[in-house]
Amino acid sequence: MENNIILIGFMGSGKSSVGIRLSYHLKHTMIDTDKWIENRQKMSVSDLFASKGEAAFRAMETDCLNELIRTVNNQIISVGGGLPMREENHILLKRLGKVIYLKVTPEVVYERLKSDTTRPLLQVENPMERIRTLMKERGPIYEACADVTVDVSDKSFDQIIEEIDRAITAIKKE
Ligand code: S3P
Repeated sequence: MENNIILIGFMGSGKSSVGIRLSYHLKHTMIDTDKWIENRQKMSVSDLFASKGEAAFRAMETDCLNELIRTVNNQIISVGGGLPMREENHILLKRLGKVIYLKVTPEVVYERLKSDTTRPLLQVENPMERIRTLMKERGPIYEACADVTVDVSDKSFDQIIEEIDRAITAIKKE
């Protein structure tokens, strides 16, 4: 099913909040892979990391993509920030739909998430350093996975939605 719009990007890039607004705008429903996994496992992402480990969570993300490919169409899909890091997920993302990368600066992520306790990877002594390191590794992979990159750091939701809308229209004409 290739008619979905997939939002990828770092934690705190606004995938969920942009996704909700995009879903109103395009009148599509929205799925969030973290929520999908939490519902399936009846456990929060933090508890899954703590009790089953990150590797098990990453396998659940791949299972989720495989199931979404079989079952959904015309939806907005926001995926966890680490999901595109698994190489086998790249082809699955492409099969699932058009991939939009919401690009954000480390400073914006830090400001948004400095009091957050739900992202296990950022519960460290120096979250800013962790954000910078992860972003350096992940940035090129997000870019490589994406059909379109939208810089979202200092834009309003309206501007972001407009930009995504324009990009989707352009992709459809290709
Ligand atoms: C992760 C991002 C989180 C969640 C998990 C791991 C990551 O999702 O999947 O904590 O590796 O970047 P969000 O990007 O929605 O915060």
